[in-house]
This record gives sequence, C-alpha cells and structure tokens, in this order.
Amino acid sequence: MPDTWTPTSWSHCPYPQAATYPHAAHLAQAVLQLSQKKPLVHLNNILQLKRLIARAGRGQAFILQGGDCAESFNDCRPAMIRSQLNLIMKMAELLAPYINGPVVPIGRIAGQYAKPRSSAWEQQQGITLPSYRGDLINAAKFDENARVPNPARLLKGHRSAAITLKFIHEKIKSTEFYTSHEALHLHYESALTRRGKQGRWYDFSTHLPWLGIRTSQLDSAHVEFLRGIANPIGIKIGPDATPDWLISLLERLNPQREAGRILLITRLGVQHVDHLLPTFIQATQTHNHPVTWACDPMHGNNLQTQSGIKTRHLDTVWQELQRTFTIHQTHQSHLGGLHLEMTPASVTECLGGKTNLSESDLKTAYHSLLDPRLNQQQALELIERFTDLLTARRHTNF
Ligand code: PEP
Ligand code: CO
Repeated sequence: MPDTWTPTSWSHCPYPQAATYPHAAHLAQAVLQLSQKKPLVHLNNILQLKRLIARAGRGQAFILQGGDCAESFNDCRPAMIRSQLNLIMKMAELLAPYINGPVVPIGRIAGQYAKPRSSAWEQQQGITLPSYRGDLINAAKFDENARVPNPARLLKGHRSAAITLKFIHEKIKSTEFYTSHEALHLHYESALTRRGKQGRWYDFSTHLPWLGIRTSQLDSAHVEFLRGIANPIGIKIGPDATPDWLISLLERLNPQREAGRILLITRLGVQHVDHLLPTFIQATQTHNHPVTWACDPMHGNNLQTQSGIKTRHLDTVWQELQRTFTIHQTHQSHLGGLHLEMTPASVTECLGGKTNLSESDLKTAYHSLLDPRLNQQQALELIERFTDLLTARRHTNF
C-alpha cells in the first residue's frame, strides 16, 4: 500500500478534464452525501473479475466489454437495460464455442455517465457553450443553463447506477455480469471508495474502472487515484502513447506485477496498429508485466462525413480487430478481450454492415449522445466475422 496515498490524495495533482462547478460548497455537500451512500458493487465480484481478467491474459477466458459511449440517466429503464443485456449475452453466447474458458460479459453500464471531451466548448449556429460532459456533470441540451455543472447530478448518478444494477440482478440471476466505466470524475469515484479486505481500498462504484487516454499522464490525478485502489483497472492505449509511458504507468499502477490487475485496451486505429501494437507488447514482455490485452477497434477509427457527422465504418472496425488478433499471435501474446460501443437499438450511427448503411442513412436514427455506436445487427456481424477468424486459425493450427 503506497504510504502517501489516500482516497483524496489525487486532489493535489494536475486534474485534466475537470468540470468547473460554480459553487465549491455545493460540490462538497454532494460529495459528503455520496460518501454516506451504499457501495454499488460487491467486493467478491470485484475479486472474481480480477481472477477472470488474469485468466483471459493466459488465453483461458475472453473479456467482452460493451455498451454506450455515454450512458444517459434516461436509459435507466427496465426495457432499455434488458435489451442492452440481451445483446451482450447473445454476443457472449456466440463467442463461447470458440473460446478456451468462459466469455466474461462486462457492460459499459451503471456509471458510464462522465465523458472526457477534446474541446471544452461546443459551437452551434454562432453560439458557443461549454461542452456536454456526460449526465454526471451537465445536461446534453444545447442551452446555457443545461451546460452548467450541477453537483446534484453526482447523487442522481449514484441513484441511476443503483437502479440499473438492481434491474441487472433481477434479469441475470445465474450468470455473472460485471460493470465498468471510465474513472473520470474523481469526486464521484473517491466518495465511493471504501476499505475492503485486509485494509485495502476498493472503488465500489464499479467492478472495473478504466483510465481514458485524455487523463493518463503519469502525474495526473486519475493515475494517482487508481494506483491506490485494488480493483482491476482498464487502461486505454491510443496512438500517441509510447512504450516508455506504458512501462512507467504499469510500474505505478501495478508495482507488484499482480496478474489480473491490468486490462490494456488498445484503440490505435487501423493505420497505426501494425507498427505500434508490437512495440507495446514487446515492452510489457521485456519488463515482465503480466497484462491482459483487449482491443477497442472503435475509438481509433472515427471519421467525419462531409456534412460533419461523426461516424465509423464496420469494415475499418473489423480490420483493426483482425490485425490486433493476428499481431498478438505472432508476438507470443493473446488477445484476451474486445471492447465495443454498441446498442441494441436500430440506430444508424456507424456505416457498413449487411444492410450497408451509407452516409445518407446516418440522419435516419442517430441518437448517440456522443460517439457513434454499432447497432445490434452490426455488433452481431462483427462477432460473426471474429468467430470465422477464430475457426480459420484453429484449422490452420495456429
Ligand atoms: C470512450 O471509451 O468512450 C473514450 C472516450 O475512450 P478513449 O479514452 O479511448 O478515447
Ligand atoms: Co466513446
């Protein structure tokens, strides 16, 4: 246990992506209330997930992580949650026959309410307002008041997460299901951080908090917070990352080299994956860091249409997944997981797929609060292509 660490030691570190609240006292009051709320997840399940992530790192399980880019408080309804669960469980079921060991379903759910933004400002028709930062912070509506950070949303976030988890437990009784979200809003995360077994600290807001690429500087508040909790941790790796940064980060977050502690989620983009991924794999091997690798083939492959709509093409997403899988194989490593933005709704946010969605279709049903998601058909098609690849590799005895 690091000696200088406390659940709030992060507050002395640089804090990228911080929301500026108009009244510090209101924020402090909300944080105090949040710190008296019940933990959202159980310690045994956090520990179980860590063991499963360790197995996936050895090629004896597979992590399937997926859900919305930005979860909305409005989606906290039984029908929405049921269909999101059905989709991920269906995908897990399709994958299972091709995987050694269990497929481990993890939702981007029950807490994926805070979003990092590339720009602090959004412009529409000559009006500039602060960006939407996720329901945990402000509202998506393009309106001056809606965009002011409101600390009452921290409590609403906890309530929505608790309700979502209750629906999940009612729906899934026999199987394990885990939750994850980006550990972006540290007031929220640290207020839900409590002592567990043997005096170790755990973030009880979710089983698997992850570190996003915009907050992963070695001296950031986010790294400081994550180093002291004993949950398994996801780390996104983008195209600007370097092997030196990765190794320094792993030394900070997993100095004991505990298997299952670290899930590395690469989102390099199809144009970078071939030259960058091997350098990260080799660095972890050289420095003996036991990590589990997952592929997020979504975030490195964004494109903008001529009319300014943010989208992704299923073929590009597939290419990054396919190359990532192959690169691991040729470097004595395993691809142990897949991370997707997807929804059971029949949205038209990503291009391609069997119905060959094109640019002109995007307007029909574009509902995402932020990044474009695969719809159900596209998500299932990606799994189908992946299982074809796994079958082909098995037959060639790779
Ligand atoms: C995300 O997963 O929605 C996200 C913002 O990811 P990244 O940090 O990889 O850009
Ligand atoms: Co996203």
